[in-house]
Amino acid sequence: MIDLTADLTSVWIAEYQHRRQQLMEKIGSGVAIFRSAPHAVMHNDVEYNFRQDSDFFYITGFNEPNAVAILAPNHDEHKFVLFVRPKDLKAETWSGRRVGVDGAKERFGADEVYSIADLNEHLSKYLETGDRIFYRMGNAPKFDQVVIRNWQALMRKFPRKGQGPIAIEDPRAKLHSIRMVKSELELALMQKAADIAVEAHNRARELAAPGRYEYEIEAELDYCFRRSGGLGPAYPSIVAAGDNACILHYVENNQEMQAGDLLLIDAGCSVEYYNSDITRTFPVDGKFTAEQKVLYELVLKAQEAAIAEVQPGKPYMDHHNVAVRIITEGLVELGLLKGEVDDLIEKKLYETFYMHKTGHWLGLDVHDVGIYQCGDDPFYLQAGHVLTVEPGIYISPEADHPEDHRDEQPPIGDRWKGIGIRIEDNIAVTETGNKNLTEALPKQVSELETGL
Ligand code: GLY
Ligand code: MN
Ligand code: MN
Repeated sequence: MIDLTADLTSVWIAEYQHRRQQLMEKIGSGVAIFRSAPHAVMHNDVEYNFRQDSDFFYITGFNEPNAVAILAPNHDEHKFVLFVRPKDLKAETWSGRRVGVDGAKERFGADEVYSIADLNEHLSKYLETGDRIFYRMGNAPKFDQVVIRNWQALMRKFPRKGQGPIAIEDPRAKLHSIRMVKSELELALMQKAADIAVEAHNRARELAAPGRYEYEIEAELDYCFRRSGGLGPAYPSIVAAGDNACILHYVENNQEMQAGDLLLIDAGCSVEYYNSDITRTFPVDGKFTAEQKVLYELVLKAQEAAIAEVQPGKPYMDHHNVAVRIITEGLVELGLLKGEVDDLIEKKLYETFYMHKTGHWLGLDVHDVGIYQCGDDPFYLQAGHVLTVEPGIYISPEADHPEDHRDEQPPIGDRWKGIGIRIEDNIAVTETGNKNLTEALPKQVSELETGL
């Protein structure tokens, strides 16, 4: 594992070069344009934190707004070009330091750097080197027009010059197939994001008690994330006591915990934009009720079996299918579902209790880029992929079977209602199996019950 405390300047430069090289191989004779996130969000003259566009950051490492990157593999000298905000003392006094044109050339390995103000003057000489333009339309209507106008001008010249881009193609499929496979450096950052979140979850669990409020736990998580150098929560933390845990995206976090509640904490940390995404569920008073325990053991069994399916060469969906089968079998045994397991799965009747997928890709984005299926064919796991494995069971006070199956299914007994459980770990696929980046965080019943 790479030591993140060492001076990694040259390692990072090589990493970004390698990423651009991989992408240039994929775009062949094309030319690619990537735009940064536009600017920090402003509300009433208050500036909120800037978040760079992940694709732009992945190929440049440049963390400022209002910038454009071009990859032009066919250009003789300028294969990687940046357009950035120029130095401006007055503007920097208000909104922070800028790397500037010279700084960007020095520090980001660009062959040429221009002021973003001069984009129109220089764009077409790069676009005309490609046989197609790789650009993602639709995110920024004004910038889309800049690209289209430049392309139109080249199309008009085309009959005379006999060359130039004949199409615009979305670069995401190509770039994201690269982003999906994490490098050693990325895995080290994701391990750090995982480690910080593990510590935060441990502290949160120690703090949880009847009479405390969900927001106190959220505050502890935030404190741990920032204190360790993380950017903060990877997404709005979910701290859900009792039946709040049955709301998948509960973020109010404003209720008092009661004795007898389970507390579901879904919280991850962002480190240099790389994320962790962990869920644990435990009794706030240190003791599961019988119903909580049996459902918890079922989710845990499904989760452990699903993690075992995360292997190089296995179809991505296998871990989900295993989790669904175990949960459905368990729900039948508990009398919450009735019928043949295959039939219940086919008709998706388990979705009354388990209504989301078992995981997602994880990386620079929490729900990271990448495909899950190749059309009707499976997508196969390979070393470097990182995904979450996060089955759950949720029985809200209003839970009921779908209307057209209500007669054939057993009524849901009150003793089950209000229980929501999810267990989520972050799993990296390795050459020989997998590595659970969040393994250090306890999840066995015996580890979660206290004071017995
Ligand atoms: N916290 C978002 C998720 O688990 O997908
Ligand atoms: Mn989560
Ligand atoms: Mn997740």
